[in-house]
Amino acid sequence: MSVVVSTRKTIADLDGPNGLPIVGNLLQVNFEQFHLHVERWCDEFGPIFKIRMGPKTIVCIADSDEVNKLLRDRPATYRRRSTIESVIKELGFNGVFSSEGEDWKRQRKVVALALNSAHLNQFFPQLLETTRRLQRRWEKAADQNLSVDLCRDVMRYTVDVTTQLAFGVSVNTLETDGPVIQQQLDKVFPMLGKRVNAPFPYWRYIRLPKDRELDRAIAGIETTVNGFITDCRQRMQENPSLYDEPTNFLEAIIAAQTAEQGSKFTDQEIYSNVVTLLLAGEDTTANTIAWAGKYFIEFPDYFAKVRAEVDSIVGSDSLVSDHNLLPRLKYLEAFANETMRIKPVGPLFPMETNEPVNLMGYELPAKTPVLALTRHLAINPENFGAPDQFNPERWLNPQSSATAPHKTNAFLPFGTGPRFCPGRNLALVEIKMALAMLCRNFQIELTDPTRKVEEKLAFAMFPANLKVKFTRRQ
Ligand code: HEM
Repeated sequence: MSVVVSTRKTIADLDGPNGLPIVGNLLQVNFEQFHLHVERWCDEFGPIFKIRMGPKTIVCIADSDEVNKLLRDRPATYRRRSTIESVIKELGFNGVFSSEGEDWKRQRKVVALALNSAHLNQFFPQLLETTRRLQRRWEKAADQNLSVDLCRDVMRYTVDVTTQLAFGVSVNTLETDGPVIQQQLDKVFPMLGKRVNAPFPYWRYIRLPKDRELDRAIAGIETTVNGFITDCRQRMQENPSLYDEPTNFLEAIIAAQTAEQGSKFTDQEIYSNVVTLLLAGEDTTANTIAWAGKYFIEFPDYFAKVRAEVDSIVGSDSLVSDHNLLPRLKYLEAFANETMRIKPVGPLFPMETNEPVNLMGYELPAKTPVLALTRHLAINPENFGAPDQFNPERWLNPQSSATAPHKTNAFLPFGTGPRFCPGRNLALVEIKMALAMLCRNFQIELTDPTRKVEEKLAFAMFPANLKVKFTRRQ
């Protein structure tokens, strides 16, 4: 009798860090720096390996071609990790980021339309005014010699921009002492990160103080956002031309609901997508601007070059006052790209298989968690030369032997494929506006240069301890 030996490789054949029985690698990681642990394991075990987080085995992948393929094979073969959807659903805002399949497709169309370039150009005057407010805030900080928490300050900017774009309402958190919406939104991302990664959903059985705090924040967001929705419906009834020519995202999505009468665009979906936009647009853009601020301080020569470019383009203005000038800020764009290569807000993409797949020779069953190490791709010497060096000029001269190779498909700060970030254009405009204003008007330094700025993960990756001081430029 002959024995048939299967040569098919499965998850059991994958290498990975040794763990303990039952808990696996759970006790070896600090979730605030989860990405750093996984990246170190990747250096040890190669482009595909497994980790065990309690009962879950997660396949980790860091091969640029495979990651691109995986992200493009959505929504059919892969999806976002299902815990993202279940956790966000519980919180009551399952919008375009977390939904899947047909629901996602319908929502994506409206969101992408609201964020397209034509709408952004119309929106530029409001964005300009919000950038002026950020400038006034920093002038005040400079005059009073204040230490500024850069991330939090820039979050006020991104909340003001997104609220204006989403609802047509100016909450002006920049010039007031924190209307509640921004403080409430601040509670959501860190808890989202914790719950998505939690090995056990304890909050379904017991509410800790931080869970009750989150409940209160969500209730507050619900009241505020529903108030905006009611006002907006009334405005549209009084002025029906807004159905044909909506001026903001909320009007656009209400118009789409009416146009699709009898179809399935629900009030709950409207609420969910408004909150999704607020959250997706806040920390991501703010953290990127803050990381760039840190690099301005660390690399004064590059800062001087960005400043020289801005000076030459804006003339006598104190900021970029015409959106047609933005594409000319090439050095600044290269600086932003280099910032996002090394400090992307999403260093890991948690995905899941919808069906059995073969990933780099391994057979994975449906519902296998797959973690794509997107930042690792961008700091891997096989994809970018001298990867640890912050060098914006690699983006201006990609063929340069000093920084070759330059594999653009390994640079995925906004993702790729059908679910790539629809806010990318808006984010790039905000980043350019804020950074151009900064270098045109201020010198920036660390409040305490002895304190290390650290990467931390709260769903998005942010710079912890980034306290700065501004001085007015002479
Ligand atoms: C520097 C700023 C930003 C970064 C780095 C960023 C990054 C990302 C990433 C990595 C994804 C996942 C992409 C994928 O799965 O392939 C995403 C999705 C998304 N982003 Fe952004 N984002 C930024 C700003 C914004 C802004 C300003 C908005 C809107 C106001 C926005 C709205 C969204 C939405 C709605 C999704 C979900 C898309 C979908 O699932 O179809 N983002 N973003």
